[in-house]
Amino acid sequence: MDIFEEIKVKGFVDEHIDPSLDLFAEIEKIKKEKNAVILAHYYQEGDIQDIADYIGDSLGLSQQAAKTNADIIVFAGVHFMAETAKILSPNKKVLLPDLKAGCSLADSCPPHLFRKFKENYPDHLVITYVNCTAELKALSDIVCTSSNAVQIVESLPKEQKIIFGPDRNLGAWVAKKTGRDLVLWNGACMVHEIFSREKITKLKERYPNAKILAHPECEEVILQMADYIGSTTGILKYATNSPEKEFIVATEAGILHQMQKDNPGKTFIPAPPNNTCACNDCPHMKRNTLEKLYLCLKNELPEIEVLAHIIERAVKPIERMLEISASLGL
Ligand code: 13P
Ligand code: SF4
Repeated sequence: MDIFEEIKVKGFVDEHIDPSLDLFAEIEKIKKEKNAVILAHYYQEGDIQDIADYIGDSLGLSQQAAKTNADIIVFAGVHFMAETAKILSPNKKVLLPDLKAGCSLADSCPPHLFRKFKENYPDHLVITYVNCTAELKALSDIVCTSSNAVQIVESLPKEQKIIFGPDRNLGAWVAKKTGRDLVLWNGACMVHEIFSREKITKLKERYPNAKILAHPECEEVILQMADYIGSTTGILKYATNSPEKEFIVATEAGILHQMQKDNPGKTFIPAPPNNTCACNDCPHMKRNTLEKLYLCLKNELPEIEVLAHIIERAVKPIERMLEISASLGL
C-alpha cells in the first residue's frame, strides 16, 4: 500500500496570487488569525526557513509537533514528516504545502514487502528510521532519527536482536558505532547516495583545511572521509562550534542557508555529486515554495489525514523514541 492509499487526501488549490502581495506579511497575518504554526526542515528553500516558527531536524520537528498549542500545523517538509506530526497531534489540522513532496527513502520500503521481511525474523525487534510511511511505523517497535539512532540501539540489551530499516547506510553506520549486528533493509536516499568520493578528494586539495561534514545517509565511502557525521542539526552545531573556517558539506544543500546565516565569516561548500548536476537539492523537499505555503495556510489545504487504526499503532513507536530521547536529554 503506498502513502496515497493509506491516507485520505484532500486536494490541491491552484490559485493565482497577486504578484504585488507581500507574502511574508500575509503569511504572518493569517498565521496569527488562525493560530497556526509553521514547522520547517533545514532542506526547505531559504524564504521558507526565514518565515518558519521553528526550523529543525526530524527529531526537533517531531518534538515541536508533539508539544505545540497551535490549532494548525503547516509542515514545510516532506510527507512522512507531516504524517508524523498528524500521528502525534491527531486532533490538530496538519497541512503540507505540496502533497507530492514525498521521499525516495520512504518509497524504497513498501510496507507489504517489509511485513514479509519481518516475518523471517520473529525474535527481532524492529527499529525504523522516521523517513518511512505511517504504515511502516505501525509495523515497528521503536522509531528513530539520525540524531538518536545510535542511542536508541544502545538503550536496548546487547543480546536483543534488531531489524533496522529502511536506510542501509544509516543502519550500517549505527551497526559500526554500536558494535551490534543489525539486520538491514536495503533502502537508500537518492540525494545522499550521489556524492562523489573522487570529486570530494579534489575539493579537499583546493581547500586542505576544510572539515568534511556528512549526514549518515551517505554511503560508507563518503562517511570514511568525514570529520563529523550527524543529523542536520548536528552538522549545523558542529560548524558553529568549530574554530575552523571552511567546511565541505555532504548533505542536502538547503542546510547551507542556515549554516551561512549563523556563521557569516565561514565558508560552506556543498559536496559535489557524481553527475553533472550542480546541486544537491532534494526534489521532494524543494516542491514546497513560499507561494504554496501561503495558499496552503489561506485555504487550509492540502490536509494530511491518517487512518485511525494506523495512528493507534504508529504512535507507540514514535512516543517510545520521544521518551528515550527525553530521558537521554536529546
Ligand atoms: P535529519 O533528521 O538529519 O534532518 O534528516 C532528515 C532527512 O530527510 C535526511 O535526508
Ligand atoms: Fe527523503 Fe532523501 Fe529527500 Fe531526505 S533528502 S526527504 S531522505 S529523499
